[in-house]
Amino acid sequence: MATTSKARSRAASSTQTGRSNGRHSPEPRLATMGVEIQRFGSLRLQPIALPSEARTESCQLLNGILADTMVLYSLYKKHHWLVAGPTFYQLHLLFDKHAEEQNELVDQLAERVQSLGGIAVGDPRHAAELTTIERPPNGAEEVPAMIHRLLDAHETIIEKVRKAIKKTEKSEDWGSNDLLMGDVLRTNELQVWFVSSHVVDVPLISD
Ligand SMILES: [Fe+2]
Repeated sequence: MATTSKARSRAASSTQTGRSNGRHSPEPRLATMGVEIQRFGSLRLQPIALPSEARTESCQLLNGILADTMVLYSLYKKHHWLVAGPTFYQLHLLFDKHAEEQNELVDQLAERVQSLGGIAVGDPRHAAELTTIERPPNGAEEVPAMIHRLLDAHETIIEKVRKAIKKTEKSEDWGSNDLLMGDVLRTNELQVWFVSSHVVDVPLISD
């Protein structure tokens, strides 16, 4: 591998401080990047009395939902910024509230994968590879299209969550089962209600 300019400048810096080869040094010890100590999709030992087959299956299910949730969080943020029209302020605030709640789920899902001994999806580019939520255009859409897109994303997640609830019940992974049912499913269902209510054609006062 060719020596990078960053590596060369680190070496020069070490020379300037007169670093010896002894055990102690004032220099920060930077590691070589890109060396994996646990591969994505593999499992490490975790003494939680749950068979590795069950933990592997749960990690796969949770990571799929995690990737989608990261994308839905970003979709809410995009729409929080780009929304316009007479309902701007209301939707601007609602989309941000939902984004924060999805962000909380991202953390809970990722930490559950880590608790099971797996590796959580962390990089948004990795999430983009795994998600099945349709990519929106980079520009702005009309508000009903934004809402439709959010509802579609929620349904994609809810579908996966329902399947994962059944599978984690079968494998007796109650920790994941509880998270999926009590937090992920209920939050998504509640958000669907709030968002879908904005596209109901009901006048404030009847003619
Ligand atoms: Fe904001």
